[in-house]
Amino acid sequence: MREKLEAKGLKPRRRVLLSGPPGTGKTLSASALAGELQYPLFSVMLHGLITKFMGETAQKLKMIFDAIKTTRGIYLFDEIDALAAARGGENDVGEARRVLNSFLQFLDEDTGPSIVIATTNLPGILDRAVLRRFDLVLPYVMPDGPAIRQALERRLIGFSFNRIGWKRVTDVATGLSTADIVAAAEDAARRAVLNDTDKIATQDLLDALERRRSLQDLGTNDNGTRASTLSPSQSRTAAPIPGKGRGRVQKTK
Ligand SMILES: Nc1ncnc2c1ncn2[C@@H]1O[C@H](COP(=O)(O)OP(=O)(O)OP(=O)(O)O)[C@@H](O)[C@H]1O
Ligand SMILES: [Mg+2]
Repeated sequence: MREKLEAKGLKPRRRVLLSGPPGTGKTLSASALAGELQYPLFSVMLHGLITKFMGETAQKLKMIFDAIKTTRGIYLFDEIDALAAARGGENDVGEARRVLNSFLQFLDEDTGPSIVIATTNLPGILDRAVLRRFDLVLPYVMPDGPAIRQALERRLIGFSFNRIGWKRVTDVATGLSTADIVAAAEDAARRAVLNDTDKIATQDLLDALERRRSLQDLGTNDNGTRASTLSPSQSRTAAPIPGKGRGRVQKTK
């Protein structure tokens, strides 16, 4: 396939931006792609990378891009908005702009075999200069009725449930992320197992979803936006797939 593209002077797409609310599967997709391609996955937490000293930040970025050049893999830049949002912030004395520019320049210079995936919850604040660097921008959305049902059914394979009132269930689940819905399914499943049954009833799902919803409300600010501290913590962890060179990127944190 690569040869076909190259014959026409085209390159395969290697830079993808995944954009959407927390818990919609962005980090999961990056791990799935890494698994599919059998590439190691390296996660770069941009929030952790940005220090008060922008010179240091730029130096860390350079180390990461050196790794991108030499070690083939999937490089996941999580929460890329941290970089873009840094501009215009309190400490912005033009340094943040320079860091962003070096990030863009590193992206431009990178012609190696690695895949760069960036994620954001806030596509609105991303600079057009950043967006332009990506070959593909994939929107992730909150699940609708059929997607809610599918997520629950998939997570509950091995359990028996019939005559579930899906309409009521999906009504209660609407507004929850797929991550929350999967967590609710696991909650219901755990309770069933501990009660020595493999049967899940409509009410079990409704209860589990309600419990999840009340947790989520704890993380909602007065203005209705969700507090970032309650985003799924799993997505904040580093490289789930080990591989050579893994330590290099992590060392830069
Ligand atoms: N579309 C989906 N299909 C199946 N499971 C999902 C999906 N989206 C999320 N999940 C479940 O939720 C968990 C967390 O999702 P993930 O970390 O990929 O979300 P995210 O979009 O990266 O969120 P964040 O923006 O907070 O980092 C996954 O490990 C998976 O169990
Ligand atoms: Mg994530």
